[in-house]
Amino acid sequence: MPMQIRPLGPFIGAEVDGIDLREPLTPAQAEAIHHGMDRYAVLVFRGQPLTNDQHMAFTLALGPLETTQKNVMRSASGEFRIPDSFNDVSNLDRNNQPYAPGDRKRLFAIGNRLWHSDSSFKVVPAKYSLLRAVRIPSAGGNTEFAHMGAAYEALDGDTRDLIEPLICEHSQLFSRDVIGFREFSPEERERFKPVRQRLVRTLPRTGRKSIYLSSHAGTIMGWQLPEARLLLHDLTEHATQREFVYSHRWQVNDLVMWDNRQTMHRGRPFPPEEPRDVRRTTIKGHAPTVEQQEAVAA
Ligand code: OGA
Ligand code: MN
Repeated sequence: MPMQIRPLGPFIGAEVDGIDLREPLTPAQAEAIHHGMDRYAVLVFRGQPLTNDQHMAFTLALGPLETTQKNVMRSASGEFRIPDSFNDVSNLDRNNQPYAPGDRKRLFAIGNRLWHSDSSFKVVPAKYSLLRAVRIPSAGGNTEFAHMGAAYEALDGDTRDLIEPLICEHSQLFSRDVIGFREFSPEERERFKPVRQRLVRTLPRTGRKSIYLSSHAGTIMGWQLPEARLLLHDLTEHATQREFVYSHRWQVNDLVMWDNRQTMHRGRPFPPEEPRDVRRTTIKGHAPTVEQQEAVAA
């Protein structure tokens, strides 16, 4: 059966059949996947029982890996279950036990239940993320995706003009502040220094514009802080209306791939005592969205 890409809704998401991700990608398949990503922003591959190595090989066939630091909280305590070339997005410790509800690593990690774009806090933010489900909980734990291109197109002209030139600062300190996680060491504060990102970005291959939002965005350069936060809040509310959202209900052996340049996503809650083993590879973006030289807030 040839590869087929079937849309999952009017704005975002498509399911891909007729491909075995354990096999090497042909150039034609790789191009069809990139085209599908440009068009649907989220691609769902079901029933793909991959090893970590196969997941990595599929990733590398689509672009270079993001090599900047990941698993920051796990690194601090040597809490590795899987190779550090992956983002371990599970709720499991090195013995494959769910973290205690009050574990600092867990409380930091559940910041990903806020709408965000992966690595928007890095100078060169992520292009694609590829998340694979190895174990899933009995209930909850969906991942939701919102289309920032469709959201941009639904803005009125005045709002488009207002946001076009704006530059934001992004940091994990900002996203964690939203959920009241505020205890950081001086070293962590240094590591999480804000970077600049433009608020409107253009997808290179299509020219489509999108709103580059993320819960990591905490300031707008030259704006009063409360006004900046309110604009980001209003834009996020607009962009995450149900019509722009696909909610993925996981099955074991799903691999879901999303374009961080034109989507936000968030995890949904699930029973904390149940294992949820999801593993992510990340393809790096090609350049900063804006010059960085004065990016870092004092
Ligand atoms: C991620 C992420 C959410 C989830 O892998 O980047 O935000 O539902 N995941 O696990
Ligand atoms: Mn994420």
